[in-house]
Amino acid sequence: MNKLWPAVVVIVMLWLSAGAAQPEPITITAVISETSGYRIMADLAAAYMAEHPGVRIVVLPGPARTDDLFAAYALHLERQSGVDIVQLDVIWPGTFISDYLIDLKQYGAGEHLGQHFPAIVKNNVVDGRLIAVPWFTDAGLLYYRTDLLEQYGFAGPPATWDELEEMAATIQAGERAAGNRDFWGFVFQALPYEGLTVNALEWLASAGGGTIISPEGVVTVNNPAAAAMLNRVAGWLGNIAPRAVLGFAEEESRIFWTAGNAAFLRNWPYVYTLANHPTSPVVGKVGVTRLPSLDGEAQVAGLGGWGLGVTSFSAHPEIAAEIVFYFTSHYAQRRRAIEGGFAPTIPALYQDPEVLAASPFFTELLEILAIAVARPSAVSAPNYREVTQAFFQAVHRVLEGQIGAEEALEVLELELTAITGLPSGPP
Ligand code: GLC
Repeated sequence: MNKLWPAVVVIVMLWLSAGAAQPEPITITAVISETSGYRIMADLAAAYMAEHPGVRIVVLPGPARTDDLFAAYALHLERQSGVDIVQLDVIWPGTFISDYLIDLKQYGAGEHLGQHFPAIVKNNVVDGRLIAVPWFTDAGLLYYRTDLLEQYGFAGPPATWDELEEMAATIQAGERAAGNRDFWGFVFQALPYEGLTVNALEWLASAGGGTIISPEGVVTVNNPAAAAMLNRVAGWLGNIAPRAVLGFAEEESRIFWTAGNAAFLRNWPYVYTLANHPTSPVVGKVGVTRLPSLDGEAQVAGLGGWGLGVTSFSAHPEIAAEIVFYFTSHYAQRRRAIEGGFAPTIPALYQDPEVLAASPFFTELLEILAIAVARPSAVSAPNYREVTQAFFQAVHRVLEGQIGAEEALEVLELELTAITGLPSGPP
């Protein structure tokens, strides 16, 4: 028996050390929107875990629309539930969510920031705290069917709204006569939600109608150019655009267009890769360019985009921050650009041959980003959510035909000055 003791001791020691070498992995949870490359994120997480056996990353799918994602995060934060990593819309810094995010500079973000567009980094700084690292950027674009433009004798995409109306009407009439009875000229996003704010901001800016509230803090929305443009868009419904756009967000309009039911589509860069997927009905027929304007001179695109941040309830903020740096890195953004068409926040990637082969229009996108128009979120913080809700509801009523744009904008001006305390004036 005595002879057995050393063996027993060795076995117990081995057992103990094996236990010590394999502690429970630390779990980091990220909630990522279905439309922000959720699947690629799961792949990136798997690659990270293979190299970090002590860490388990759980990527949960979040809602597709920004408003729904905001509501979902608000619930998580209220309940202090275990979400570590969240994605932040460019319009969110300054909303209450920023109060629940850690300052990533305290966790070594500094060394990663130099590679990003400085303006996007700056947008994510609230009261000196860096609450998100840039992840991808967005600009509103005009998609068109290259085959149909050619078939109907148009040399290139429209530069003005007049041209778009003419092309949309011609192609629509031709396609319907050819038996495609549900074919429409143009689809976009007019559901009453944040996406309508961007669409309508683009309409206004494209027609010299200002940007709702100027960067200097003047409520400019009530002006004749803005009213004329909104009335014009209301006139598209039922003529060159289906009334169904009143219920369309990004995904509904993308699916409608990709199924081959419309000539033109307003949407973000992510559509390009999906529309050109081998199984897509419009593969190889996808054109993309900047949005038209009234005079063909004004260059218009609504600015969007997202960053990644860490909640202050995270039990492992330093590990969550490391994962955010990895998810937003050159390597991850390159993969997301090639596999998902997500526009990088790292300028160097716009020179990368593989990125450009996957999305050839990224060269032009870089120019579009430089002139893209921001929503008035910074200037109206912390009240941007009330501002955008008042705006998209007013626009929606005009598009529905409930009210003329002049009257709607007059009331809206009063609402916006009351919400923000800012003065009103011409753009
Ligand atoms: C895109 C943009 C985001 C915007 C949203 C509106 O996700 O990146 O900034 O708020 O669309 O629907």
